Amino acid sequence: MRELVYYAAVSLDGRIAAPSGAFDAFLAEGDHVDAINADWADTVPGAVYDALGLTAPRGRFSTVLMGWNTFAAGLPFTDDPYPHLEQIVFSRSRGQGDVGPGVRVTAEDPRAVVADLKSRDGADIWLCGGGDLAGQLRDDIDRLVLKVNPRVFGDGLPLFAAAYDPVPFALERSRTFESGVVMNQYRRA
Ligand SMILES: NC(=O)c1ccc[n+]([C@@H]2O[C@H](COP(=O)([O-])OP(=O)(O)OC[C@H]3O[C@@H](n4cnc5c(N)ncnc54)[C@H](OP(=O)(O)O)[C@@H]3O)[C@@H](O)[C@H]2O)c1
Repeated sequence: MRELVYYAAVSLDGRIAAPSGAFDAFLAEGDHVDAINADWADTVPGAVYDALGLTAPRGRFSTVLMGWNTFAAGLPFTDDPYPHLEQIVFSRSRGQGDVGPGVRVTAEDPRAVVADLKSRDGADIWLCGGGDLAGQLRDDIDRLVLKVNPRVFGDGLPLFAAAYDPVPFALERSRTFESGVVMNQYRRA
């Protein structure tokens, strides 16, 4: 069955962005970026993929899920960030007029949307974020892929905005880069 994979960059103290939503504290250069472009090409925005002339295969994911704030973080650049994927954005305040033609905005229950996606054939589902949406989908996540950046933020938006309720995950793979980034892959235990 296709899996829900939460793939995100995170600080050492579990933050995915500054309190403002800015994410420029994450390392944008280094050998981890080459690995991402090669192995996780689906997660590279379409315009960036094209501009860099990347040719790495895409197909690991078929769908991306975003909360409105995550989608909005990219709006200064594009309203259609991942045209190679089925794009679903969750919002109660926005509609189809606020997004590009390749994006579906919905106020449906995210857990019901994920259950429906999992019941259908396809490649895996990328949970892009943010922490608000991930907190609601915590019990539906099959795998976590965390790009742990060697930074302590001290404050900022959490990987999961959820109540305390420890969920076990098992480490499957860990890859260390010279940049100091460590990519950890976990599956639900
Ligand atoms: N480090 C990383 O890899 C990474 C990855 C992704 C995102 N980010 C960062 O994370 C930040 C956003 O995270 P966030 O936690 O603030 O927000 P988020 O989860 O991206 O978005 C929250 C918004 O999504 C909508 N939403 C959430 N649950 C919903 C539901 N059940 N039904 C309908 N709509 C729902 C609401 O929008 P409305 O108010 O419109 O209803 C809500 O305000 C951004 O700054 C982004 O840059 C970082």
